[in-house]
Amino acid sequence: MLKDRMKKTGDLKKMKFHIRTFGCQMNENDSERIAGILKAEGAKPSASPEESDLIIINTCAVREKSEEKFYSYLGKMALIKKRKNVVIGVVGCVAQLYKSEILERKPFVDFIIGPDNYNTLSDIVRSDHEEKIISTNWSQTFHDFPPEKIFRKSRVSAYVTVMEGCDNFCSYCIVPYTRGREKFRPMKAILQEVRDLTREGYKETQLLGQNVNSYRDPESGRSFSFLLKEADRVNGVEWIRFITSHPKDFSRDIAEAMSGAEKVCHQLHLPVQSGSSSVLKRMNRGYTRDKYLDIISMLRNLMPDISLSTDIIVGYPGETEEEFQETLSVLDEVRFTNIFSFRYSPRPHTAASRQKDSVPLEKKKKRLIQVQALQKEIQVEFNKSLVGKTMKVLCLGKSKKDPQVYSGRNEGYQVVNFKSSEDFIGRFADVRITSCGPYSLIGEVV
Ligand code: 5AD
Ligand code: SF4
Repeated sequence: MLKDRMKKTGDLKKMKFHIRTFGCQMNENDSERIAGILKAEGAKPSASPEESDLIIINTCAVREKSEEKFYSYLGKMALIKKRKNVVIGVVGCVAQLYKSEILERKPFVDFIIGPDNYNTLSDIVRSDHEEKIISTNWSQTFHDFPPEKIFRKSRVSAYVTVMEGCDNFCSYCIVPYTRGREKFRPMKAILQEVRDLTREGYKETQLLGQNVNSYRDPESGRSFSFLLKEADRVNGVEWIRFITSHPKDFSRDIAEAMSGAEKVCHQLHLPVQSGSSSVLKRMNRGYTRDKYLDIISMLRNLMPDISLSTDIIVGYPGETEEEFQETLSVLDEVRFTNIFSFRYSPRPHTAASRQKDSVPLEKKKKRLIQVQALQKEIQVEFNKSLVGKTMKVLCLGKSKKDPQVYSGRNEGYQVVNFKSSEDFIGRFADVRITSCGPYSLIGEVV
């Protein structure tokens, strides 16, 4: 059926596709794989859905809002489908979660693929089936995707998958139900990909997984800190980062591997979620406020210049005013470079969704504003302290707002914008910071 429709739009080789990605880096990297599969079929990427024959929406289910954004986008795609012959595929975490329900609710969708099934995409687009296709099976083992097939968005910074899935079952989190249990990629394959990327000229690699700290090489049993040390030894690699870490699994040997390495950036995203030990217990996070703060002290002792970021949830069921104040005080104490903050929203299958969502919406909104206002003050103060300093910036591209301005990241993963008559894309620049806002730095090349 899909094949026939594709034929109407021309053959597969003339087909144009557009992928819209919602959600995390894992999804971004999956979209790069999907694009690679379609390109191998001869199809061409298109910048706009209007000009495409195949529209793929890679979805995120982590919060209610992420789902709403997807449905609103899907509505726009339905309008395109009314005007022209186009195939619409829904993939990713919402696809995994709701499977056939999506087809029942939105009959104009042509296929559904979950995050563990992108290898079925070629067959699906070439299939002769009459019925719509749903591909959401789980596999127990890690299936490697040929890295050379990945069609990467950036020529400068590349994602390298280390593991998939999650075993932690934080009470609020949908991920174990959309991405399944932990599966680790063999270390040899990870290191080979880092070597190949470096040879191709990539300056930065970001090791990816839902919980990279729990990594174990399925062949040798070696840990994440060993992987970091080995990646650090790859000739020519410039910057190595990794995401996401979990405080429960963040051991001293990882911190020591970071501080002892030459190429591993002194930067860490370490989601705290709440500053209150009682909320953390209810969230099933496996650490207390003090344990989290101990990790931060250990990191700062080893790397005084480390840049830290975190995730915060406000309004978790039963969160009292006192418990919320502890989240504010943890921000004040740690003084993160950046945070991502969210209102709690109940998600299907999770333990927390079986409790009453007891914090009223207005209170959640107020708490989120308080968190963001405090963090903004902290960031303004910190960023001002950087004015006058010169730092190494990896230039990732041009600013979307002003084509005269280049945009990159410093070692601490802060956005740094600078003007230059010379093309810096894909190169490191020494930038002197001249001014700042709360969310970015502005500078000039020295
Ligand atoms: N409600 C609000 N925020 C959530 N997150 C995960 N699940 C929920 C939820 N049910 C946030 C956490 C996580 C980030 C990716 O999303 O802070 O670290
Ligand atoms: Fe969203 Fe989580 Fe799926 Fe990433 S893994 S896309 S954050 S639900």
